[in-house]
Amino acid sequence: MASVRRLDGARQRAEEPALPAPEREPEWWRDAVFYEVYVRSFADSDGDGIGDLPGITSKLDYLVGLGIDAIWLTPFYPSPGHDHGYDVADYVDVDPLFGTLADFDDLIAAAHERDVRVIVDIVPNHTSSEHEWFKGDRSRYVTRPAENGLPNNWPSNWGGPAWTLDEERGEYYLHLFAPEQPDLDWHNEQVRDDFEEILRFWLDRGVDGFRIDVSHGLVKQKDLRDEPEPFPLLRFSSDWRTAIDQPEVHDVYRDWHRIAGEYDGDRVLVGEVVFSDQTRVAPYLRPDELQLAFNFSLVFQDWNAEAIRRSIDESLAALPIVTWVFENHDVTRIVTRFGPREARAAALLVLALPGPVFVYQGQELGLEEVDLPDEVRQDPVFAQTRGERKGRDGCRVPIPWARTLPERSWLPQPADWSARSVEAQTGDPGSMLELYRRAIELRPGGGFAWRDSAPGVLAFERDELTCVVNFSADAVPVEHVVLASDDVTGVLPPNTAAWVR
Ligand code: GLC
Repeated sequence: MASVRRLDGARQRAEEPALPAPEREPEWWRDAVFYEVYVRSFADSDGDGIGDLPGITSKLDYLVGLGIDAIWLTPFYPSPGHDHGYDVADYVDVDPLFGTLADFDDLIAAAHERDVRVIVDIVPNHTSSEHEWFKGDRSRYVTRPAENGLPNNWPSNWGGPAWTLDEERGEYYLHLFAPEQPDLDWHNEQVRDDFEEILRFWLDRGVDGFRIDVSHGLVKQKDLRDEPEPFPLLRFSSDWRTAIDQPEVHDVYRDWHRIAGEYDGDRVLVGEVVFSDQTRVAPYLRPDELQLAFNFSLVFQDWNAEAIRRSIDESLAALPIVTWVFENHDVTRIVTRFGPREARAAALLVLALPGPVFVYQGQELGLEEVDLPDEVRQDPVFAQTRGERKGRDGCRVPIPWARTLPERSWLPQPADWSARSVEAQTGDPGSMLELYRRAIELRPGGGFAWRDSAPGVLAFERDELTCVVNFSADAVPVEHVVLASDDVTGVLPPNTAAWVR
């Protein structure tokens, strides 16, 4: 069981005679398989069509069976839900839609009993416009008097200006995302103090760490200088923004690192640092800052051997530890990006790489991006870009548990998801679910080294296994196969992968 006791008495220990440092076990997160639970769409315990905390607790045994080490819960805090929880109105409570604090405590206890760690999402860049701080004097936000006009040319990541004029108050406020998500002013000491308290609130409740939303964005450039134009159309990555990634943000993470370190159990801070150039992510992973940061480089790659090899090489060279990701609740699912066969091969690729891996709920079921009708779309990206960008609802459709799909679901599930359900795939050796289970079970450890391979084929060694991925149009010979993404007899067909000994 994960230990959640709070350490104290550091001063007392300093007076004791120095003992040789005991050998330290490597931190649990170094090679963990994390599973992202998008709370709204995971498991619905009360039949309202929306996932909830008791639903997650009821599915922990499924997650244990899958073999994962930890779950990341997306925001479940009280929120008007403009960005489905990434607009937090109260950082230290549970939205009634998802349950209660008691449900949260039950979930943590049940997870820890099963040796599953739990990290929670923290959203420090912005609050909801319904937060008391915003309804109050707004001293914690980035605001500017209206009389001087628009404060600068900064655009919102989702289209339109990043400033909204509040006529009643006679001031503009900043929002890098939706107008309902006003940005906090991290140059303000009060904001830092508030978040330290929020972190402690959840650490005291036993969370094993935090996933930090928009980690690189918190501190804005102080003099609000214009950003260079023209702005690129594709805005998922923050490469082009000069308003963020400010040096002071690192002071915040040094403080948070210290706070997490006051607790036992190797609590972990995982940053969402969205740059394609991994050398810009590296400073966030200095030894006294975040322990992990998502590597989004793979998310931007096509199914192409050279591109993927370059991405892996650049990431391994730039970062002390690489946190591999192919999917999350913001990007198109890999079955749709790469193809169904390729997605199976991608599973063996990502689970053979050295370091922690994040798997997004439904990735293990091989779910595709759902092409939803416009009228059911809820992502603010869709509305804010007037439909120019379809948004992220297609990867957020509730996952199917049983062959009989539920009557209510906040986004409609395709009828053929009955055959993709956990019930339908369990025990079927050809299913994506059983492939993930086996791969997580057999996941190799140890060092990493490329092996020579034919053009269009990637092969790399870990201690006890070699992972071979065939991106080319020709079959390549393989032997001593331990696990394969498709039927393999003597040759690895195009767009398949195998682990061989
Ligand atoms: C992060 C989240 C995304 C959210 C945005 C604003 O990128 O992953 O879902 O919309 O931040 O909070």
